[in-house]
Amino acid sequence: MPRLFVKRLAILASVLLCAHVGIAQSSLVPTPPMGWNSWNHFFQHVTDADVRAAADAMVANGMRDAGYVYVNIDDGWQGTRRPDGTIQSNDRFPDMKTLADYVHTRGLKLGIYSSPGLKTCAKFEGSYGHEMQDAKTYAAWGIDYLKYDLCSFGDKLTVAGNGDQAAPAAFAAQQEAYRKMHDALVAAGRPIVFSLCQYGMSNVWEWGPEVGGNLWRTTGDISDKYDRMALIGFSQAGLSRYAGPGHWNDPDMLEVGNGGMTLDEYRTHMSLWAILAAPLLAGNDLRHMKPEHLAILENKDAIAIDQDSLGKQGDRVSALGPYELWTKPMSHGRTAIALFNRGELAHTMRVNLRELGISPGAHIRNVWANADLPFSDIINPIIPKHGVVLLLVTR
Ligand code: GLA
Repeated sequence: MPRLFVKRLAILASVLLCAHVGIAQSSLVPTPPMGWNSWNHFFQHVTDADVRAAADAMVANGMRDAGYVYVNIDDGWQGTRRPDGTIQSNDRFPDMKTLADYVHTRGLKLGIYSSPGLKTCAKFEGSYGHEMQDAKTYAAWGIDYLKYDLCSFGDKLTVAGNGDQAAPAAFAAQQEAYRKMHDALVAAGRPIVFSLCQYGMSNVWEWGPEVGGNLWRTTGDISDKYDRMALIGFSQAGLSRYAGPGHWNDPDMLEVGNGGMTLDEYRTHMSLWAILAAPLLAGNDLRHMKPEHLAILENKDAIAIDQDSLGKQGDRVSALGPYELWTKPMSHGRTAIALFNRGELAHTMRVNLRELGISPGAHIRNVWANADLPFSDIINPIIPKHGVVLLLVTR
C-alpha cells in the first residue's frame, strides 16, 4: 500500500477516534489533573466561603504555582430546580458565576459535581433528565470540571456493589448515562474536564475513554486511614496500560493533611499516587495546614513524577510479602522507583538497580531525603513501617 495512502488512512482513523472521545475534552488533561476537592474535609457542608478560602490558600501557599489548578466543589452545592428545570445552587452558594469569576481571577479553575441519577450520594439534586440543561448551566457559570457520580442512578437498576460487575442492562444504561452527559458538555461548548465516578465497576478503565471520560474512579471511597489508602492504592497494580494523556485512572482524592496518617504514611500516599500518574486532588483544609503536610503536597520531584509528559502510569515490579517495588517510566529515559514497606516494622529492602536497567553514571535522587544517592548496583535502604523510599533516576 502506498505510504501516503496509509498515512491518510491513519489520520482519518485518528480523526474519527478523536471525534468519538471528544478531542477538545481529552486535550484538557495531557497530564493527570491537579487541584483540590472539598469532599474529604468539608463533606456536604461546604460553602462558598470555604471554596474561596481554598482558592486563596492555594495562591498564598504556593500550591497553584506547584501545579494545583482545579478547585472542585463536590456534593452539597445543589439547591432546587426552577419551574423550567434550571438547577440552582443552595443558600451556601449564593452566586456560582461570581464564585467562578473569583476563582478564575486567581489563575485557577472551578469544578463542580453531579450525578446521572435523580439524587446524588448525599441526596442532593442529580442531573437525571436534565443533562443538557445542566451542562449549559455549568458552561454559563464558567465551570471547568465535572465529577459525575453514579450514586442513585444504580437504584433504578439492579447493580452489583463496588468493584463488581454490573448486570448487563445496568452496565449498558450506565455507559449511556455517562456518554449522554459527555455529549451534553461538548454541545454546551465550554471545555469541561469529565470525571467519571462509579467506583471502578465493570472495568471502567476499559470503556471510560469511549464514553468521553478524562478520568474515572477505579475504587470505592478513600478515607484518612493508612489501611484504606493502602488497600486502594496498591490494588491499582496491573492497570497501567489503561492510562495515558487525556484519560487517567483515578484511585480517589488525597488525604494528605487531614491528620489520620503519620508523615511516613502520607509520603507513601503521595509517592504511590505519583507512581500511578493519579490525579492529585488535595482533600484537606488548606487554611490550617502543617508545613510538613504542605511540603509533601508540594514536593517538586513527586509532582514531576506524577506529571511527567510521557503520561505513563507506573506499575508493580515485585512484591515479597509486604515489601513492594514499583517503577514508572518517564520522559527522557528517566525512571521513578518506589520501595514500599507495607509491614509493621522498619525493614531493609535490597534492590538490584542493574536489574532495573540502571547503569553506572545514572543520577539518583532520593526524593523524600532531598539528597542524591551515589550509584551502586545494589542498594539496601531502611524503609520505615508503612513508609517509602522514592527515587528519581536520570540516565
Ligand atoms: C461518593 C463519591 C465521593 C463523594 C461522595 C459525595 O461517595 O465516591 O468521592 O463524591 O459520593 O456524596
